[in-house]
Amino acid sequence: MALIALLAGDGIGPEVTAEARRVLEVLDLGLTFEEAPVGGAAYRAAGHPLPPETLDLARRADAILFGAVGDPAFDMLERAFRPEQAILGLRKELGLFANLRPARLFAGLEDASALKPEIARRIDLVIVRELTGDVYFGEKGRRTTTEGLREGNDLMRYDENEVARIARVGFETARTRRSILLSVDKANVLETSQLWRDVVVEVSAGYPDVTLSHMYVDNAAMQMVRDPGQFDVIVTGNLFGDILSDQASMCAGSIGMLPSAALDSAGKGLFEPIHGSAPDIAGQGKANPCAAILSAAMMLRHSLAMPERADRIEAAVAAAIAGGARTGDLGGTLSTTAMADAVLAGL
Ligand code: NAD
Ligand code: IPM
Ligand code: MN
Repeated sequence: MALIALLAGDGIGPEVTAEARRVLEVLDLGLTFEEAPVGGAAYRAAGHPLPPETLDLARRADAILFGAVGDPAFDMLERAFRPEQAILGLRKELGLFANLRPARLFAGLEDASALKPEIARRIDLVIVRELTGDVYFGEKGRRTTTEGLREGNDLMRYDENEVARIARVGFETARTRRSILLSVDKANVLETSQLWRDVVVEVSAGYPDVTLSHMYVDNAAMQMVRDPGQFDVIVTGNLFGDILSDQASMCAGSIGMLPSAALDSAGKGLFEPIHGSAPDIAGQGKANPCAAILSAAMMLRHSLAMPERADRIEAAVAAAIAGGARTGDLGGTLSTTAMADAVLAGL
């Protein structure tokens, strides 16, 4: 019996993870759920966004189903106590370096995409985002310069091992798809990126069956809205991957549709929508639960060896969308629960 750590978090996190849990429970997979506070909710309850008990549960669990963290009420706190430190801490402490963020257009969502329907229809890609390095985890500082100016700094850094292991995930992921890998960097300006590119090229020697190319991140952002259908697998650093995945979501219809998996080297994972706590719609029953439900499907596929159940959930989401089920972000009027009901109807 697998143990699932259910970390709902803040804002719409509890609303969407409740629906993902409902879908998993209907499938009767013999999962045990254990909940713990995380993010702003944990700060309120325990004075820390990632209490030791929550981290311990995450370590003990076979997989982690995560909602979202972030609360404007805590944006003024010292960084170490902000809700976002919970998800950053979980990724770092558990070694979840490989972030898979698939983006595809479910048939029927052409109208919801920011792109023209014939262009939107072509999007079917995976962003392989490095998740425990880069400017996110380099040294940070604030100081006052000799001229009396306030200065802030965040060190962007990668070592070659960190790049090589995420590059391998990129190549392996490409092998399961169309065998086309694009590495996105900013090697024309950043030394971190030149190392990234050098190492990706070295790793490519082990994958002669995968076609590798490179693109600067600014061009990649432009190409993502010009024609996302050109991409199969994109491997990139933490910051660029964060930005490009939100952008890809709107090509596919909504940020409420994109799931993700954050995996360690042994296949243990944390599964969460790519979106945040959405304070603007929290508590109103408006959030689209599909990203959370699809994250649960990724959990079954990647951490619990139940790929056919994952397929079933994804097919049920596709059927609900094809049948016209739409939350507000997709131009409809369904509540969070009603949208999940539409998915459940297809199971
Ligand atoms: P966000 O993703 O929370 O919201 C951006 C916009 O998308 C909002 O208008 C929101 O209403 C909408 N949206 C997001 N998810 C939706 C859904 N499921 N259904 C319908 N609409 C949805 O990004 P933000 O506003 O920049 O950040 C809000 C908070 O969330 C911040 O504190 C941020 O740090 C945090 N955040 C957390 C995570 C995470 O926990 N992994 C991810 C991103 C942002
Ligand atoms: C995400 C979020 C996080 C990130 C924040 C909340 C730390 O934007 O999961 O995409 O930047 O990785
Ligand atoms: Mn993000």
